[in-house]
Amino acid sequence: MKELTSSQVRQMFLDFFKSKGHDIEPSASLVPVDDPSLLWINSGVATMKKYFDGTVVPTNPRMTSAQKSIRTNDIENVGKTARHLTFFEMLGNFSVGDYFKKEAISWAWELLTSPEWFGFDPKDLYITVYPKDHDAYELWQSVGVKKEHLYKDEDNFWDIGGGPSGPDTEVFFDRGQEFNNVAEDDPQNYPGGENERYLEIWNIVFSELNHLPDGTYVEQPHKNIDTGMGLERVVSVFQHAHTNYETDLFLPIIHEIEKFTSYKYGSDQKVDSSFKIIADHIRTLSFAISDGAEPSNSGRGYVLRRLLRRAVLNGQKLGIEHTFLADLTPTVAQIMKSYYPDLTTNLTRIKEVVNREEAKFAGTLNDGLKLLNSVISSPKVQENKMISGQDAFKLFDTYGFPVELTQEYAAESGINIDLDGYQKEMTQQKERARKARGVKVSMGTQNLDLLNYKKESKYLGYTQLDVTNCSLNLLLQNDQKVESVNDGEAMAIFDQTPFYAEMGGQVGDTGWIYDQSGQLVANVNDTKHAPNGQNLHYLEVFGQLKVGEEYHLKVDAVRNERIKRNHTATHLVDEALRDVLGSGSHQAGSLVAPDYLRFDFTSDEKLTDDQILQVEKIVNEKIFANLPVTAQEMPYQQAIDSGAVALFSEKYGDVVRVVKAGDYSTQLCGGDHVSNTSEIGMFKITESTGIGSGVRRIVALTGDGLYDYLLNEENQIKSVMKEVGVVKLSEAAEKTANLKNEFKAAQKELAELKEKHANDAAKNLFKNVKESGRFAYTAGIIPNLDPKEMREIADRWRNQKISDILVIGSNKNGKSSLLLAFAKDKASDEVNAKTVIGSFAEIFGGRGGGNQLMAVAGGKETSLIQDAVDQAAKIIADLK
Ligand code: ALA
Repeated sequence: MKELTSSQVRQMFLDFFKSKGHDIEPSASLVPVDDPSLLWINSGVATMKKYFDGTVVPTNPRMTSAQKSIRTNDIENVGKTARHLTFFEMLGNFSVGDYFKKEAISWAWELLTSPEWFGFDPKDLYITVYPKDHDAYELWQSVGVKKEHLYKDEDNFWDIGGGPSGPDTEVFFDRGQEFNNVAEDDPQNYPGGENERYLEIWNIVFSELNHLPDGTYVEQPHKNIDTGMGLERVVSVFQHAHTNYETDLFLPIIHEIEKFTSYKYGSDQKVDSSFKIIADHIRTLSFAISDGAEPSNSGRGYVLRRLLRRAVLNGQKLGIEHTFLADLTPTVAQIMKSYYPDLTTNLTRIKEVVNREEAKFAGTLNDGLKLLNSVISSPKVQENKMISGQDAFKLFDTYGFPVELTQEYAAESGINIDLDGYQKEMTQQKERARKARGVKVSMGTQNLDLLNYKKESKYLGYTQLDVTNCSLNLLLQNDQKVESVNDGEAMAIFDQTPFYAEMGGQVGDTGWIYDQSGQLVANVNDTKHAPNGQNLHYLEVFGQLKVGEEYHLKVDAVRNERIKRNHTATHLVDEALRDVLGSGSHQAGSLVAPDYLRFDFTSDEKLTDDQILQVEKIVNEKIFANLPVTAQEMPYQQAIDSGAVALFSEKYGDVVRVVKAGDYSTQLCGGDHVSNTSEIGMFKITESTGIGSGVRRIVALTGDGLYDYLLNEENQIKSVMKEVGVVKLSEAAEKTANLKNEFKAAQKELAELKEKHANDAAKNLFKNVKESGRFAYTAGIIPNLDPKEMREIADRWRNQKISDILVIGSNKNGKSSLLLAFAKDKASDEVNAKTVIGSFAEIFGGRGGGNQLMAVAGGKETSLIQDAVDQAAKIIADLK
């Protein structure tokens, strides 16, 4: 067997398929772009959906890639089996409606067995096929696979619950019985069984179906090939490694971990698994953070948080008590340098994020241990010798304790975990998460007419918004190709058009279509790209549209002008943000609409008011500087060398369009722009928010949109000025401050008056002590008191020892209150304020409560409060 490094294996796979006419695609970001159905890119095909479903036709239907992928559904198995990983690279070759089974199988065999390439011995290879797939069964034999090496397996169907799917065929490498974890005669000991002898190294999917959200499958008119070879597994074969971990992809990380602990890798299976978990998780964290994800409490961020916590806890098992994870990241970057230089470029940020999160967890960890100890020592747990599923789940969910860890801890005190209960909680949470995600369409459905339509449609909108002779080449209604349409919704492609199709954040144009006689025949409600790139018009038709005829296409120029202003302003703000925040900030998304622009960018910190002002000032300076805006086509490399800003997530062709605003901004951009920055008029940021970890969003206005906004603000200011009573805005602040002071003084005066009033009223009331039965009492009405003021009077009555019982009634703001107080030595358990208040409350329809010494009743019948007080004598006389 050849000895190859991981880099050589990766390169050999790509080179092989390049020699078969494939384009090598770069490894796409782990954070899916425009695919809400996925949390992470989890396979090569996940980045290809737009090609597989026909939304976009690729320049070359044959592609190959080494794709970064994250899968966390089998996270518990990481470190336990030889092959499970949360981050891995998937080597793949793809055919979009081009070659199918025959080539896919014979090329696979050539790569695997040719001495020029992998050079595996055919006797080490086993193949499984879908039982109904007779073609595949035959094709493998025709390239030389012996029948004894071919297995049929119902599981050979690739489906991830949405999007591309179909029967598949899998290639297994027989590593020999010495690698196995089950006996030779074990029923699981076959290619595809639960064993570690036959290692699945390649999955070749005949992707002929689209799995729709409603659970049904539709056949794809264009059949595709999707394959996935786990790089780490193949490397383990080449490097005679027992597991993925004893390869050049992991060993340097493991050796780095050894520096922090007295344990040695390979000495004890139990500690080995901690080494493996840490090594796996730090790779996932490094790549995900490099691609812009960050730990948080939901979605992707939550996955990262859990991974980091598992890594820390496994560090503790190795006796590592201090933070150490960030120290492993340079090793990850070093291993990956040749194919993923980004990790090195982003290393400082990766380290910072890992460090911050690890330090944060140190705090949570202590809290979690405290909770765990208190759960363990609680009487219930001590009695049943069992921790409930809820508690175990809470420890996992809130404190990041994996259940195995809780189990181990508890076992030291002879306590078990209710694992069924724990699973139940987990299932419920997954269900909640699934519901919260909602049903998201994974992949669209191919429209053959659009897919096969290759004729060019020229975009004229950079210079013309009104073109009289556009001939109608393709017309669709209800997704069917038609020759003419008289009403209803339809889609159309012309040989040339002034309508811009949505792209790069800029929304599509709208407008009108006239026939040759000048009759309006359709509204254009939107414009998007057809799979082969032509501008596809979404129409609402009134008159007759006929394929082959010429039409007059007219863009809504006012709307288009607004879009242009916002687009050029977007370029200026992108640059200004870098001026203010530093060169690390880059665009993370944008929307250029007629009425506003929205710009997302990376920044760890919230923008301060001062920074917002600075950005605004810079953009306005550039507007007032009358900078010419120009667009020029040039080769990609020349554009990049001249300092043009390119977007991370975009793919560019060989020739690109470079848009410059003076010397201030240079960007690759296919969009519409004003010809001079002064046309933007003015620029203002109206909103600044955070939209998830590390990404901020601003919303801003320009031109007439901004003028309308300012008018509205002005009107609001005017109405405030009117209320405050000033004519000049410059006087408003002082006047408002004066009013506030006057108001405060008046409030103070009022409070003093009230107190005096209550004092006087109380004094008068206290003069009046009567006898009834065995109690001396004081009762009366004092107007305008709330319960608090009543209580103050009662305190005074008590201090001055006026009588045995006090009754005060009062009405305020349409509500009645009655306070009843007993002197300390007069309240007994049977007769006291609390037991007697009800008799008063009844009279004025109120409800009361309080303690033995003081109770208050409140009600709405203000006319009856006097009656209640008047009857005090009688109620008191009845008290025994
Ligand atoms: N998409 C296929 C897989 O992930 C190749 O196995």
